[in-house]
Amino acid sequence: MSRVVNISDLRLMAKRRLPRVVFDYIDGGADAEWTLRENSRVFDDVMFRPRSAVATQSCDLRTTVLGTTIDLQILFAPVGSSRMFYPRGEEVAARVAGESGTIYTLSTLSGCAVRDVKAATRGPIWYQLYLIGGRDVALQAIERARGCNCSALVVTIDTPVAGLRERDSRNGAKELVSGSPFTMFPHLFQFLARPRWLAAYLRDGGLMKFPNIVLADGPMAYADVGAALEQSMVSWNDFKWIREAWQGPIVVKGAHTADDARRAIDHGASAVVVSNHGGRQLDGVAPTLRVLPEVVAAVDGQAEVLLDSGIRRGSDVAKALCLGARAVLIGRAYAYGLGAAGAAGVSRAVEILRSDLVRTMKLLGVGSLGELDRSLIDAPFGVR
Ligand SMILES: Cc1cc2nc3c(=O)[nH]c(=O)nc-3n(C[C@H](O)[C@H](O)[C@H](O)COP(=O)(O)O)c2cc1C
Repeated sequence: MSRVVNISDLRLMAKRRLPRVVFDYIDGGADAEWTLRENSRVFDDVMFRPRSAVATQSCDLRTTVLGTTIDLQILFAPVGSSRMFYPRGEEVAARVAGESGTIYTLSTLSGCAVRDVKAATRGPIWYQLYLIGGRDVALQAIERARGCNCSALVVTIDTPVAGLRERDSRNGAKELVSGSPFTMFPHLFQFLARPRWLAAYLRDGGLMKFPNIVLADGPMAYADVGAALEQSMVSWNDFKWIREAWQGPIVVKGAHTADDARRAIDHGASAVVVSNHGGRQLDGVAPTLRVLPEVVAAVDGQAEVLLDSGIRRGSDVAKALCLGARAVLIGRAYAYGLGAAGAAGVSRAVEILRSDLVRTMKLLGVGSLGELDRSLIDAPFGVR
């Protein structure tokens, strides 16, 4: 791990350890992957304006998000099927998030049960809700999340249908879960090329079910997630019953515009995540950093504004905080680490981003998060 210098190194290690269908599931985006590329590239458009010759001994990274004190404003985004990347993937990632002093968000589409994930970590957990299986199934999931002391409910609003991930189609992602040996056969060789991963995967129980989606006949099988999502769109009307059932802080994830951010607040959100799902849904939407200023202005302090999509360096985090985000979430940055080497890889991802951020703050001449503001950057975009 000491030879791993940046997140790209972890990505390459994950590529070497994982079968192609699993690596591409993490790495890929929707359609032509324009938004996926832009999400990271847009950080290059923002330049720093440091204050030099300011002696900054230490950097205080502690902050609060929805009232929870965290040591690092880099949260773990919900990443479905993490159990495919590494045995007990969600539990492993949650444990590292807790050790790192930050929040882990568990996806509805996870391979580990919420109670096991909670038991695996001493840190706070948020639960991300999809309405797969319908309202009654979701209500039970909300009950379980509350029973496990999840401290916020994250409602993802940008998934009325799964984005078209061309790499998944080519790799036979659908065929591989069809259950028919004949249909699966042409795609099985990618697993044989990764025997170590395959052995670990089979030891962990092989093809997973979704323990947090409990249907009438038990946990949902690894069927076509796309079809399941299509039958379970969330709409603003759902927020009333979700609010009544949850009775705690709600985070709306997937706002792309000021209008949607305001609507989220009108429907009871305490925090809004400016997110395009890491470029996995509607290809062609603007990179999130570009829309952050308009959302921050529209929200006007009525809710906390978080950002994800494209973060690969601590300097990216600093730029998002300068443009008004309270904290950021990472998806692939820790998923690559998990796929590369389990807990050691996730820890390394966090360590890289944390030390990058501290170094960037010192080079900028700031010692605390409160000092990160627009005066420290030059950005070619702002409020529309
Ligand atoms: C493999 C993978 C699975 C994901 N699964 C979910 C999910 O189940 N629910 C959700 O709200 N977002 C999901 N996301 C989106 C992330 O929560 C987050 O928005 C995105 O990864 C941020 O972009 P980044 O990967 O560039 O950091 C997933 C992302 C990836 C890469």
